[in-house]
Amino acid sequence: MALYHISFGREDLGSNPPTTALLSGDPERAFRIAETYLGEARLLSDHRGLNSYIGLLPNGVPILSATSGMGAPSLSIVVNELFQVGIRRILRVGTTGSIQPHVRAGSVVISSAALCRQGAADDIAPVEYPAAADPFLTVALARAARELGVEHHVGITASVDTFYEGQERVDTSANPNVLRRLRGVTDEYRRLNILNYEMECGTLFKMAGVYGFAAGCVCGVIAQRTAAESVVAEQKATAVDNAIRVAIRALMNSAG
Ligand code: URA
Repeated sequence: MALYHISFGREDLGSNPPTTALLSGDPERAFRIAETYLGEARLLSDHRGLNSYIGLLPNGVPILSATSGMGAPSLSIVVNELFQVGIRRILRVGTTGSIQPHVRAGSVVISSAALCRQGAADDIAPVEYPAAADPFLTVALARAARELGVEHHVGITASVDTFYEGQERVDTSANPNVLRRLRGVTDEYRRLNILNYEMECGTLFKMAGVYGFAAGCVCGVIAQRTAAESVVAEQKATAVDNAIRVAIRALMNSAG
């Protein structure tokens, strides 16, 4: 039976169904992963823009390239349904804004854990519940980045619900008013050695702990918040490409 949002079911996954998914926020990234890196790739569904593809890694292992949509509420629905069709390992391939001067646009951040300031996660686990990546996937990602010569940083990510207010954007936002409780939060996170902002992995990691699956996250750095608020357009393609290559290589290196 097809799951309501992802619009496919276990029976659509063939006789050797994948247990691993690469999960992109952007449906175009999910398509690019399938088109560029997967053998025998085929579309499973594009319902609601949540494009999902099935295909084979270069080593012949079946895999999904799926779309989470933007933010934790959408991700939580997709991850719940992917688990129901048998997925037990999820690697988020995303984009991120650095908040540390040494984490440069074009590089990748591999999240070992997240400070999770996300409402969706609070429906799934207590606020104090750890948002931790699978250690084996994290090591596999770091090793893959090293092998590929991709500039990378492993550490703690801040996962928040909004791109503008929650990441303290004012110059590029329609809303010049940042709530008092959020003013100075970026500086504070920087002093806490948090590397970056993104909008999904905290909830993904908590879901992994609660449901019992392995989760990892690699994000291409497309904004450098110590320099400016906006996305660094010239580095975006490199950053995304680096994140995808690191994710594919990590899966090739690690047992499913
Ligand atoms: N994604 C985010 O959440 N923030 C950024 O600055 C860039 C990508």
